[in-house]
Amino acid sequence: MNLAILVSGRGSNMKAILEAKKSGKLPNVEPKIVISNIADAPALNTAKEFGIEALFIDPKPYKGNRDGYDKLIVDELKKHEIDLIALAGFMRIISQTLLKAFPNKIVNIHPALLPSFPGLHGQKQALDYGVKISGCTVHFVDSGVDTGPIILQAAVPVLDSDTEETLSERILKFEHKIYPMAIDLISQGKVRIEGRRVFIDDDLL
Ligand code: GRF
Repeated sequence: MNLAILVSGRGSNMKAILEAKKSGKLPNVEPKIVISNIADAPALNTAKEFGIEALFIDPKPYKGNRDGYDKLIVDELKKHEIDLIALAGFMRIISQTLLKAFPNKIVNIHPALLPSFPGLHGQKQALDYGVKISGCTVHFVDSGVDTGPIILQAAVPVLDSDTEETLSERILKFEHKIYPMAIDLISQGKVRIEGRRVFIDDDLL
């Protein structure tokens, strides 16, 4: 399964996926390309350190033309015969152009237990709301914001002493576990979508 990872920033989830691959935990996954919409995203250098092609695609000429920009991404993904796209801190809304080219082939990681606290700053939203348990969610991407079918979730306690930073850090450790795990399950053909529900054919879960 040829994998592309789309990033905009530090890329710690991308790194967790590439590390899992390096240590033999993703036998069916071939990371092919990392694409960023931000020129100096640290993730690009990290990808190169792992020997993965790292490409910056400049969104500036495509202001107000999301489909035009996503067409460039689709062309790159097709060129690399990509089977699955992992969004890893990719800070752009995905257009119909990309969604239609890769139906049910795009996944995302979100730092909260969806459907609670979608959108930006999921960890701060959870703290401000006062929940005692938050976590992270790997889900398929659909046309909404963090609304697609849920693949895996991990629950993480919220402590009285937490700040946005400490909670984010605790959640991030679990993001790094469940994202490679979800990608592994998909690559083994063990993930099935039925409507909103995702079924995982694995005895371990
Ligand atoms: C993570 O918290 C992820 O859940 C969210 O964006 C952040 C990306 O962090 N979608 P990183 O670039 O993977 O370190």
